[in-house]
Amino acid sequence: RNSRRLTECRRDIDRLDAPFLAIYESLIPAEEEKAKQKQFLALLEKLVCKEWPNAKVYIYGSCANSFGVSKSDIDVCLAIDDLYINKVDMLLKLAEILKSDNLQDVQALTRARVPIVKLMDPVTGISCDICINNVLAVVNTKLLRDYGEIDARLRQLAFLVKHWAKSRGVNETYQGTLSSYAYVLMCIHFLQQRNPPILPCLQRMKPTYAVTVDNVECTFFDQVEKLRDFGARNNENISKLLWGFFYYWAYCHDYANNVISVRAGCILRKQEKDWTRRVGNDRHLICIEDPFETSHDLGRVVDKRSIRVLREEFERAAEIMQYDPNPCVALFEPY
Ligand code: CTP
Ligand code: MG
Repeated sequence: RNSRRLTECRRDIDRLDAPFLAIYESLIPAEEEKAKQKQFLALLEKLVCKEWPNAKVYIYGSCANSFGVSKSDIDVCLAIDDLYINKVDMLLKLAEILKSDNLQDVQALTRARVPIVKLMDPVTGISCDICINNVLAVVNTKLLRDYGEIDARLRQLAFLVKHWAKSRGVNETYQGTLSSYAYVLMCIHFLQQRNPPILPCLQRMKPTYAVTVDNVECTFFDQVEKLRDFGARNNENISKLLWGFFYYWAYCHDYANNVISVRAGCILRKQEKDWTRRVGNDRHLICIEDPFETSHDLGRVVDKRSIRVLREEFERAAEIMQYDPNPCVALFEPY
């Protein structure tokens, strides 16, 4: 690789704090958007309960994990405690119900990896994906939200990283780059390994929350209001952390051997996970362990071409954070 390896952060990094915070603030959804989401969910709950009185409606993903920027789509999960339901039949029935209630663009995508119904609500303008019994996603949403309440810098960092990834075209799993979920886990990992750490490892603390979902035991410490001072000994601000995040992924991460694990709160070796060779479509070129489905590598979508794109983008971002006179603009330039 021909890029210069950076060593020390630029001297004027603190000067960039206010403009980066201003970008973060501009991405936060307005209160009225939240109100519309609530209104839409109430409608959905009413329609669902009429047909399936035992079903529960959960939101997951960015609208519920506190990492959603303004105008995000809503991810909804219907949980139904019935071993014999046929997801495809249920989704087709759901699509029918939604169509007859004047919701627009209703489509059942029953052959997707996670089968869903998509729709748009003309009253609130909200777009939504509905899946069935994807309860692990509801639980990992809670984990992310709980992390977000510990230290404000996580939300700031994750919003800016997601904004960067969308602007640069590297938030497209169907093109071999990473999901928003993966980027948030990368941010959590990064703040866990700062010295002193800014985030703890909730899954290694005494559990105060425990559920078993799809035979996976999900336990972690969730009394996060008790952890509000956790990162106080670290006084790095958002511009320094954003610089550090890109520096880490450009120059410090050992792509050949390492797996990042928010569950363990540290780096694991590919060897101990047996992620050392390609199996089927899983190439393990960048390894991000799912916190609950620990056999899932969220980097599995990344291939030989897209790993190059990703690493070049991390290096570009690191260089901009180090040398560019106006990184707040250059970083987010459309590709
Ligand atoms: N999810 C998951 N496993 C994945 C990808 C996603 O469990 N491999 C779940 C997570 O609960 C995640 C949700 O699906 O929060 C939505 O994923 P994604 O669209 O990547 O993230 P969002 O937070 O919704 O981001 P965006 O704002 O880009 O929609
Ligand atoms: Mg989403």
